[in-house]
Amino acid sequence: MKIAVAGTGYVGLSVSLLLSQHNEVHALDIVPEKVEMLNQGKSPIVDKEITRFLDGKQSGTMPLNFTATLDPKQAYAGADYAIVATPTNYDPQKNYFDTSSVEAAIKAIRDQNSTAWIVIKSTIPVGYTADLRAKLGDKRIIFSPEFLREGHALYDNLHPSRIVAGAPVDDEEATVAARRFAELLAHGADPAELERTNADGTTGIPQLVCGTTEAEAIKLFANTYLALRVAYFNELDTYAEARNLSAREIIKGVCLDPRIGDQYNNPSFGYGGYCLPKDSKQLLANYANVPQNLIGAIVAANSTRKDFIADEILTRVADKTNPVVGIYRLTMKSGSDNFRQSSIQGVMKRLKAKGVTVLVYEPTLNAPDFFGSEVTHDLEMFKQHADVIVANRWNTELNDVSNKVFTRDLFKRD
Ligand SMILES: NC(=O)c1ccc[n+]([C@@H]2O[C@H](COP(=O)([O-])OP(=O)(O)OC[C@H]3O[C@@H](n4cnc5c(N)ncnc54)[C@H](O)[C@@H]3O)[C@@H](O)[C@H]2O)c1
Repeated sequence: MKIAVAGTGYVGLSVSLLLSQHNEVHALDIVPEKVEMLNQGKSPIVDKEITRFLDGKQSGTMPLNFTATLDPKQAYAGADYAIVATPTNYDPQKNYFDTSSVEAAIKAIRDQNSTAWIVIKSTIPVGYTADLRAKLGDKRIIFSPEFLREGHALYDNLHPSRIVAGAPVDDEEATVAARRFAELLAHGADPAELERTNADGTTGIPQLVCGTTEAEAIKLFANTYLALRVAYFNELDTYAEARNLSAREIIKGVCLDPRIGDQYNNPSFGYGGYCLPKDSKQLLANYANVPQNLIGAIVAANSTRKDFIADEILTRVADKTNPVVGIYRLTMKSGSDNFRQSSIQGVMKRLKAKGVTVLVYEPTLNAPDFFGSEVTHDLEMFKQHADVIVANRWNTELNDVSNKVFTRDLFKRD
């Protein structure tokens, strides 16, 4: 089967490589450098499994049928499915996702191919697919949310928690296309996953085919739940800090309840990454005229946490003239090169607004400065110059300056 993919970012590239094990996949991007890198077998993003697959293709040990291209005709003409995995950034002016890249990709697909099933994999507002199908008079558009974690993008596609595909409930043809698409994804997964036993006693990868609007809601509610959980343990930590209590002991005791569980509970400077901040804001926008307290509080909690963290840092340099605050990594997680919407950036903004000098240590950033703050790759110089070292996540290379480090990474894990 010929499958086209629009966008070769985290989502588009991992789904392309997954499907290229059993299908002919053409992935299109509008950035020539990405296409060139991919066709040379190099990954534009840091991801162990993506690199393993691309290396395997280059050396011939993995027979992947994958090509990257800039040419819409090569990608889209004759494709059975065309997957859209382009960005949907949150537009603070409109208080809504900017879906223009999804619409541009769909237009480019339809210019070449009037019959392909278009599967939107980008995260979109609740109700978007139904509105777009009506606006374009195009019944061959469906939606399948993506649940991968950055840094584990292809791994999470090979070992999916679940596969969800949305089609209008009253449209039999679209429902069959959604079911076939879910099967394609399952076929690409690690074969061991087909034998696994789930918590509810079922076997294999759970597949859910539901309405497009329900599928969109599943994505936004899932990410907002994750944001809620991070915000909850962060707020617990804020309380413990303010009252001089051990957050570590409180969290341990709370999480010994198996209904709560000892995972995803390590305090941080705020929830971040590309998806959680924008998806929770979009869900809040979707609540317009629907009563709620919690969703708004989840969004607001992230700013409150960063205010608290910035204040904590400021008290640590209050007695210094012209203090230098060192930012150890811009990334959210250790082992990542990705700092899109990382929470440390919100903390930096608050510090800079108070006139504090910020020095950034970020070995993956090849630029002399980051929004006006000096960037260094020289760890020793960084350690010497910083009066306080702010680290969202601990790293053993900070052991010799632990007295300078400010972190809330209590459990030293992501
Ligand atoms: N990153 C994640 O962890 C994740 C997880 C689940 C869902 N999502 C959602 O998936 C979507 C994509 O996210 P991502 O992280 O892969 O983004 P990304 O920024 O890593 O990649 C998007 C790619 O699309 C390309 N692009 C832009 N316009 C295009 C067009 N018209 N045609 C073809 N390519 C185009 C860009 O050049 C870029 O390479 C977003 O809606 C996001 O919310 C992301």
